[in-house]
Amino acid sequence: MKFRSLIVLAATFAAMAPAAAQEYPSRPVTIVVPFAAGGPTDVAARIYGEFFSRALGQQFVIENAAGAGGTSGALRAAPDGYTIFVHNVAPHVAGPVLYPSAQYDPVKNFEPIGTLAFAAHYIVIRKDLPATNLKEFIAYAKANPGKLNYGSAGAGSATHLACVLFGQQAGIDIVHVPYRGTGPALNDLVAGTLDLMCDQGLNMMGQYQGGTVRVLAVAQATRFPGLPNIPTSAEAGLPGYEVSAATAMYAIAGTPKPVLARLTETMKAAYKDPALRKRIEDLASELPVAGQDTPEALGAFTQKEAARWTDAIKKGNIKAQ
Ligand code: MLT
Repeated sequence: MKFRSLIVLAATFAAMAPAAAQEYPSRPVTIVVPFAAGGPTDVAARIYGEFFSRALGQQFVIENAAGAGGTSGALRAAPDGYTIFVHNVAPHVAGPVLYPSAQYDPVKNFEPIGTLAFAAHYIVIRKDLPATNLKEFIAYAKANPGKLNYGSAGAGSATHLACVLFGQQAGIDIVHVPYRGTGPALNDLVAGTLDLMCDQGLNMMGQYQGGTVRVLAVAQATRFPGLPNIPTSAEAGLPGYEVSAATAMYAIAGTPKPVLARLTETMKAAYKDPALRKRIEDLASELPVAGQDTPEALGAFTQKEAARWTDAIKKGNIKAQ
């Protein structure tokens, strides 16, 4: 749906706001996840979707609409609160810079509801590579320029951007293989057809625990408490390589204010739910802390990320594939 039509729809729905909001949600709500099932965005969306279904007494159903680095799904919303998004903030803001088909403005055309999880990226390699730590891996990649490949959820996805930075900072030439989500990419890493991923805990945790992949470092300044044996990038020999993903919920701009209020109140209740917190933390991810846990904070973060990634894409000459 193009944005001219969305604006007309927005005006129509705004006029209907009081009745709509009183009843909301009076039917199932679709959460569009713009990546394949099984990846980090999908996993976070399902955890919160279950909470929202229970809290609001209607099903919040996940629809995976993958393609074009996560931008295909972003075009499908209507401003009524019955189709909302869960997206990874980096590809959400990078999409319109990379894909001419992504005719949306990530700030103006969306209403922030809340951040679901922050997740550091991890350097994850296939189990049978001859490298047991980051230094050995970088040395091996330097000895084999252009021969090692990494999987991502498509050009502009967080897993892509994180590996572009990794390649630049480590001074290695690695080859990008885009997928429709990091879930399917991880399957290929386990199967041995990929060499590397710059993945999030939300995705790789199960495979790491099952011993089917090797995790070399976490791309942040401190070790994750739940993974005390994984060194930081600095400890592993690549200081300054720090990159973290944020998964967030948005409605479309023009959604009636009382509907937005119900969604944001429910998000705040989700943050307090011990079972939900545990599920997110068990996946090597963190919930927003005070100051990060409001729609305003997500709005400001989205704006900051848009500037950051637009710049990085231009400087790194990153292209959609
Ligand atoms: C990303 O790499 O941007 C996403 O987290 C991908 C996914 O959820 O599959």
